[in-house]
Amino acid sequence: MRERGSTRSPSDLPSRSTGPSVPSRLEDRGGRFGHGEAAGYDFSVPIGATAAEVRSVVHEYGIAHMEGFLGGERLDRLAAECRSILDEPPTWSHPEGYGLGAAVRLVRTQVDRASFPTLLDVFESPFLEEVVALHYGPGYVFAEQIYVILDIVGTQTIVQQLHYDKVQHLKLFVYLSDVGPGNGPFHCVPRSHTISAQLQADNRANGIIATDGEARVLPPEVAGRQVAVLGGAGTLILFDSDIVHRASVPTDGDRLAVRSLNFGPHSLGSRL
Ligand SMILES: [Fe+2]
Repeated sequence: MRERGSTRSPSDLPSRSTGPSVPSRLEDRGGRFGHGEAAGYDFSVPIGATAAEVRSVVHEYGIAHMEGFLGGERLDRLAAECRSILDEPPTWSHPEGYGLGAAVRLVRTQVDRASFPTLLDVFESPFLEEVVALHYGPGYVFAEQIYVILDIVGTQTIVQQLHYDKVQHLKLFVYLSDVGPGNGPFHCVPRSHTISAQLQADNRANGIIATDGEARVLPPEVAGRQVAVLGGAGTLILFDSDIVHRASVPTDGDRLAVRSLNFGPHSLGSRL
C-alpha cells in the first residue's frame, strides 16, 4: 500500500476502532488484494489519513478505499442495526424493490436516533463530513440518504450493468461483511469519472438529467479496465458516482453493505 504519511493521529478519527471483529477470510489468505493495486491503480488510503488526503485520492482516481475503517463492537453494532432495518423496515423507511436481495432507503433526518445510534454516529462522522465538504465546497449536502443493502447469491439488478449515475454525488460505502471475489464486490474503472463528467457536461450545464440508457453508453475501451473492489468487513469505499461502475452478482456468499449519498451544490434533480 502506498504510504501517504499521516498528519493526523488515528485517535482523531471518530470512526476508527481496533479492527475487524470477525476473522477475515481475506486476511487469512495472507494478503490484501483486489482493490486496484494489481491493475496498476492504488486508491488505498491508510487508517489515519486526513480528510484532505482521502479527498485527493477520490479526486485523482474517482475512488478511495480504506480497509479497517470500522471494527470491533462498533462494526458489530452497525451490522446489527442494518440487519434489523432489513428484517423489519421501520415505518419511516423506504424499502426498495431489489431482486432476490433487499434494500431499504433511509432519509437521514428521519432516522430514529434512539434505535439506530451507531448508524447515525458513523454516517454523521465529522471526518466523513470533512471529506464531503472538501470534495464539494460550500453548499454540499451531507449524508442526505442512506441505503442498507443485502445482496444474496444470485441477486440480479439493473446496477450490475456498467454505468455512471445520472445525478452526480459522492457515495460513502461500508462493507459490513467480508467481500471477496465471490461476494458480489463493487466494480469500477479508476479515473473514469472524468470521462462521464465530460460526456454529461452539456446536459448538466442545461439542467438535463441523462436517462438510464444514456448513462450506460461508454467508450468501448473502458470495460476492459474494471477492477473488483474487495475488502474485509468494515472497509470504507468512497466514490464519485461519475466513476464508471457496477455491482456484481454474488456467487459464493451474501454481501451486507450500507452507504450514504452526498450531493454537491449543483447536483440536479429531485432526490427525495
Ligand atoms: Fe450506480
